[in-house]
Amino acid sequence: MKEIYSTNITSVISSLSQILDFVDKVSMNHQLRVAFIAYNIAKEYGLKGNDLSNIALAGCLHDIGIFSTKDKLAFLEFEPGSKNLNLHCELAFILLKDITNLNEVAKIIRHHHVNFAETPYTNSDEIPIGSYVLHLADRIEVMVRKVHPVILKRDDVIEYFKKNPNNMFMPDLIEAFVSLSNKKGFWFDLEYPKIEELVNGILPNFYLDFKGLMIFSNVIRKIIDYRSSFTAVHSVGVSAIASEIGKIFNLSDIEIKLLKLAGYVHDIGKLAVPVEILEKPGKLTKEEWPIMMSHAYYSYRILEKLEEVRIINLWGSLHHEKPNGLGYPFGLKEDELLLGSKIMSVADVLVAISEDRPYRKGLEPNNIKDILSTMAKRKDLDPIVTEKVLKHFDDLISLRKKVQAEAKESYLELKEKINWHD
Ligand SMILES: [Fe+2]
Ligand SMILES: [Fe+2]
Ligand SMILES: [Fe+2]
Repeated sequence: MKEIYSTNITSVISSLSQILDFVDKVSMNHQLRVAFIAYNIAKEYGLKGNDLSNIALAGCLHDIGIFSTKDKLAFLEFEPGSKNLNLHCELAFILLKDITNLNEVAKIIRHHHVNFAETPYTNSDEIPIGSYVLHLADRIEVMVRKVHPVILKRDDVIEYFKKNPNNMFMPDLIEAFVSLSNKKGFWFDLEYPKIEELVNGILPNFYLDFKGLMIFSNVIRKIIDYRSSFTAVHSVGVSAIASEIGKIFNLSDIEIKLLKLAGYVHDIGKLAVPVEILEKPGKLTKEEWPIMMSHAYYSYRILEKLEEVRIINLWGSLHHEKPNGLGYPFGLKEDELLLGSKIMSVADVLVAISEDRPYRKGLEPNNIKDILSTMAKRKDLDPIVTEKVLKHFDDLISLRKKVQAEAKESYLELKEKINWHD
């Protein structure tokens, strides 16, 4: 397999943005629309270059720190009443700041609920102008989101922001917005069904080298896993086990790294599944089950945007496919599945049944072995991969424990640091 030099992740970001808002009809496209509004206000105000593109990127990801659907809907009220207002900003900041070239974006998001009256803009490094833009854009989007055609709300919105109650927003930006709102196309754009394409047009081409992509994937991993304390270290475990199985199969260094990376993001589609379903203690209803299963489909749809590294998608997203053809989402057969996808499935099952879940405790080693063998016999799992895993079972289990214990510690440290309680 050839070395990977640089990967364009622009459309991964926009599709991630869209998927995060899929958890409820009410929140559909919120972040993309905020990105679009914020970018246009900033442009009208006179910002250029990186300042503009960072605002668009920040718009796409500004709510990445909101995990529950309940909180998400609370922030889509005009006066957000949730106690987690600062928490979601801080969480997003801490997670995103580690991604190469995303530090400024992280800073914008950290302060995206900044109140101009309390903290006027000073052109200092502390609170970027982008945060003020994002705050205004976010509230505009919330105000117009239930109206169709949205242009009907134009005069009301202008009137409200011209009054600028309690001086919450930066007056110069309001002026830019008023001037922007004269352009009818702006309002039609907001309702354009392919808004993702419009946003892709304003986002910068964002390239990461392999190391950067690994860091990015690990951050995404945290956003996927941290949504529920039950899965807080799931993907890190799958990632470690999958790459370890890769070593047992004597795969090349780059393949082993790719298994690690694909393991981090294999459940990225879970971002489209409400936490309330992920954490449900009882059996899922017939309406909830397809939503749960759709996570593998959405993983596929997001990861296919990584065009330069298709293998990440094929190895990551197909982890619920089965060699007997009875898996999902595509019902692929044995010969249509790559070794990496088969490895990921076994790693996923091994880790999932070892972990505590809301509806059961983690299983004991003998029980896990029995389940793996039975699944391999039915060809729910690949028999050759399973056989190797059973042969190295004890080592794999202790690796899982070690890796997940370490990850759990940093998860708990973070929770304490930002005072985050479930
Ligand atoms: Fe927010
Ligand atoms: Fe928002
Ligand atoms: Fe999954």
